[in-house]
Amino acid sequence: MYEQEKTMLAEAAIKHVKNGMVIGLGTGSTTRSFIDVLGKWVKAGGQVQGVATSDETAAQAERLSIPLLSLEEATRIDLIIDGIDQIDQQFRVLKGGGGALFREKVVALMSREVLYLADASKFVHHLTGPLPVEIDPFARSYVERFLQDKHVDATLREQDGKPFITDGGHLILDVDLKRVQDVHHFAKELKSLTGVLETGYFERQPDHVLTVEQGQVRRLVHPELRDGGGLV
Ligand code: 5RP
Repeated sequence: MYEQEKTMLAEAAIKHVKNGMVIGLGTGSTTRSFIDVLGKWVKAGGQVQGVATSDETAAQAERLSIPLLSLEEATRIDLIIDGIDQIDQQFRVLKGGGGALFREKVVALMSREVLYLADASKFVHHLTGPLPVEIDPFARSYVERFLQDKHVDATLREQDGKPFITDGGHLILDVDLKRVQDVHHFAKELKSLTGVLETGYFERQPDHVLTVEQGQVRRLVHPELRDGGGLV
């Protein structure tokens, strides 16, 4: 996504932030732009507390003097603002391209409201993946064999030639969804395997999504919510 679009989304997202809110802060390049804007908002006197979904996000928030709460300290989370990797017409979402899926999912599940920021490339007819699956390193061959038996391809995520390690000390398998008919069911099946911590299929769907269409920010509302959305 172009930097300009990320900035447009960030500036539209800040309008959803109100004084006194506890905000879940997502992870990734789109959220990074939002946190920059939030930092300016706080500097200008806005009062908010953040709950970070990754060490990287926490470090950025700290640099910008955005007050942070741990999940234990937060008595509530009003709103999470985060990026996504894919979304379909039913608002089913894949996340975890940045490897923060577990914490992002926990914070999203605890948030009263979920707002995602996505450029047009993130909208798909059906979810094609890859589906990130966070696993304990010891269970790697067990999970890989399960996938092989199902003729589903998976790649161990790497960074700088070494296995990518999540903030929680786990590995990520990026699972190809080409041969998967029902992603919801498949994610549930994966979740039931010993050693699988979480998948990037987010059962908690967003209430709304901000996107850029023809140079303008548009708010799309979950199909089950009757609040129209529209240009921002
Ligand atoms: C991190 C995520 C990100 O939100 C997702 O990968 C989108 O990233 P970006 O905003 O860089 O496109 O899920 O785990």
